[in-house]
Amino acid sequence: MKIATLSQSFGGAHPMTQAQIDFIDNWEVENYRRSVAAGGVTGRAENKTIIVTGAAQGFGEGIARNLLQQGANIVVADLNEEVGNATVARFNEIAKSNRAIFVKTNVSEIQSIENLIQQTICNFGAVDCFISNAGVLRAGSLEDMTPENFDFVTKINYNAYFYCAKVVSRVMKLQTKYASENYYTDIIQINSKSGLRGSKANFAYAGGKFGGIGLTQSFALELAPFRIKVNSICPGNFYDGPLWSDPVNGLFVQYLNAGKVPGAKTIDDVKAFYLSQVPMRKGCSPEDVTKGVLYLMEQCGETGQALPITGGQVMLS
Ligand SMILES: NC(=O)c1ccc[n+]([C@@H]2O[C@H](COP(=O)([O-])OP(=O)(O)OC[C@H]3O[C@@H](n4cnc5c(N)ncnc54)[C@H](O)[C@@H]3O)[C@@H](O)[C@H]2O)c1
Repeated sequence: MKIATLSQSFGGAHPMTQAQIDFIDNWEVENYRRSVAAGGVTGRAENKTIIVTGAAQGFGEGIARNLLQQGANIVVADLNEEVGNATVARFNEIAKSNRAIFVKTNVSEIQSIENLIQQTICNFGAVDCFISNAGVLRAGSLEDMTPENFDFVTKINYNAYFYCAKVVSRVMKLQTKYASENYYTDIIQINSKSGLRGSKANFAYAGGKFGGIGLTQSFALELAPFRIKVNSICPGNFYDGPLWSDPVNGLFVQYLNAGKVPGAKTIDDVKAFYLSQVPMRKGCSPEDVTKGVLYLMEQCGETGQALPITGGQVMLS
């Protein structure tokens, strides 16, 4: 209607000639042919723009890389500028006609998230999916945990998810308002198996993650009328990632040195102990989590869910 009305200002609508129609048809076919010939992207996330927070390294890096390989334009949003820029440079070496950018972001500051969204819109025009992945872990018993550490973990794992959803949902509401009825956007929180089951001497982390699922369910109720789905993914441990396998600070080294696993003499002993608790005898990989992300994005029959990807270690009842 708006176009029809506005077209009057240009002397009214003119039917296209057959030559003009043929030109557009041929241009589209030629454009597609050129894109395929140039190794154009044909993945499951093609034409999607996806922000992944905390994607400089770890789970976020792996999820972002896998989504890039599925054709998405990727925004790596991380506090760590040096590692984030290096990640994006690697991504752009394997990208086809899509691309990745880095935006320095602190998810615990609203202004920083607003800048992230603005940069994303300026570069790609939209945000189809926002993955709230950045997270921190400071374990400790009731005796050891300080209020400062508790606040730090809570601010990034819990409060920051609210800040991100608050800012990005404003833009997503506009996008879905002016798009066709079958267009949906997604907010996906990378939660944890510790959001579904308590974690001994790790309550600051588990508490924030449990709370995150409460946010997911509540955001989902509020945003469903705007065709914005909100879901969490609850991965099991990513044993090959830096959090566990860093040779200096990784949890395997820390647990070995602290004697946390009775009788363990090597890192392999510690690893075997943890794997024995997983029915499928494997850690969770970014590839596993990306399959969950793609499922959540592709479907439009679910919102407000917490999807476990734990090799059977945590089962929903
Ligand atoms: N590693 C695991 O075994 C595991 C298991 C289940 C869930 N998770 C969850 O996966 C997510 C990623 O964990 P990971 O192990 O890959 O962590 P990681 O420490 O390897 O990476 C986290 C990234 O987040 C960034 N970051 C930290 N604070 C930030 C902030 N304020 N703003 C922006 N970026 C920030 C860091 O710079 C880093 O690049 C977390 O939410 C975590 O709770 C991890």
